[in-house]
Amino acid sequence: MLMNKKNFRVGLGVAGGIAAYKAIEVLRLLQKSDCEVRVAMTKHATEFVQPLTFRALTESYVLVDDYATENPDPIAHINFSQTIDLLLIVPATANIIAKFANGIADDFLSSTFLASTAPVLIAPAMNTTMWENPATQRNIEQLKKDGVYFVEPIAGELACKTVGTGKLEDVENIVAQALKVMSLESEVLSLNNEQLTPDSRLQTQDLKDESLLITVGGTREAIDPVRFISNHSSGKMGFAVAEAAQMRGASVTVVAGVTSVEPPENVKAIRTISAEEMYQAVMKELPNATVFIGAAAVADYRPKTAAAEKIKKANQNFLALELEKTPDILLNVSKNRHEKLLVVGFAAETNNVADYAKSKMEKKNLDLVVANDITKKGAGFNTDTNIATILIKNSREKIELPLMSKRAMADKILDEIVKLRRK
Ligand code: PMT
Repeated sequence: MLMNKKNFRVGLGVAGGIAAYKAIEVLRLLQKSDCEVRVAMTKHATEFVQPLTFRALTESYVLVDDYATENPDPIAHINFSQTIDLLLIVPATANIIAKFANGIADDFLSSTFLASTAPVLIAPAMNTTMWENPATQRNIEQLKKDGVYFVEPIAGELACKTVGTGKLEDVENIVAQALKVMSLESEVLSLNNEQLTPDSRLQTQDLKDESLLITVGGTREAIDPVRFISNHSSGKMGFAVAEAAQMRGASVTVVAGVTSVEPPENVKAIRTISAEEMYQAVMKELPNATVFIGAAAVADYRPKTAAAEKIKKANQNFLALELEKTPDILLNVSKNRHEKLLVVGFAAETNNVADYAKSKMEKKNLDLVVANDITKKGAGFNTDTNIATILIKNSREKIELPLMSKRAMADKILDEIVKLRRK
């Protein structure tokens, strides 16, 4: 239970991987965010970083071995695990994940996991083959089912000089996720549904100076008063970006077309139906925006004229609709951009995903494009998850975002926007 809503207590568990040194930075960032941190290490972790480093920074005994004679607490794994608001593991190795998933408690950290009543957030880091091994993936799935949170590793060059998924997520993002988990959990715990004060919602406020304008959902282009041309967009991806940005301190306006889900709370939502209406609303809001994100699936064509009355079948076997182009909102935003505006597009593709996305980025002069292959299972329209590749202007880097929730992907996209702004 939280004693004081302004402070969180984090048990930072460090396992034995090369990324163990990054736990030091995580510790410092947590401390800067008003968290009290205590550290537990596996024996192998101490091969990478000395406990003394953490001891100096936390001014507390670092727990490695319950039975060590110098350990000041005879039942440390219970006292440690039950007086924290979050158990955060950075980095988590395949071995510690396997132990957690199977209830093995043969050292201090794994006993702490079993004894903990606090939420657990795991940030894995390992070689790609170990990450992709079915045993590791099974263990992760099991832990997710058990309610454990994960900050998925990212793609990049690994310590073993190979390139692939397995690199520890950026420390800023790990800390942002940790604060988010603690805020969410404390909300659930708060009795009588009492409203949390804004300062209890500790978040990384890295977007506090930004105003995001986001298009969301699909458009409907009328054929007649009854029928329309549209697509499968639910609005889930765009709203996820809106929610994540709002939690990171941005002021957010969404221009939503037709969606099957509701916009997040505290976000200004302007409702539109057709591409033309969406275009008009965007252009009106654009002068106030510092970042534009086109997550909407805007119809590229509309009937040249919408029939005033319902079109009758009569005796015709064929019906020809003459279509004309809709305004390209993203292109117009990019053309009319002020100096500070970052312009981000999505690309929904079914083949040659990266090539088409790259050509969209160039044609529309985008700073960043998020390319989804909508044919992949778990990606694209109307799912809660997505798989995408981020391409960035003037960069050859492709940031692969494996299967994850749209909400988690939203944070990844925003991380890249923050990095672009810092450039
Ligand atoms: O809403 P969901 O169910 O969550 O699904 C949304 C999504 C997961 C598929 C989303 O991520 C996505 O890819 N949205 C954009 C889909 C799309 O229309 O892509 P496109 O390749 O056709 O368009 C390229 C870009 O131009 C997009 O940013 C689009 O918003 C923009 N565009 C397109 C046409 C137009 N007339 N105006 C535009 O602004």
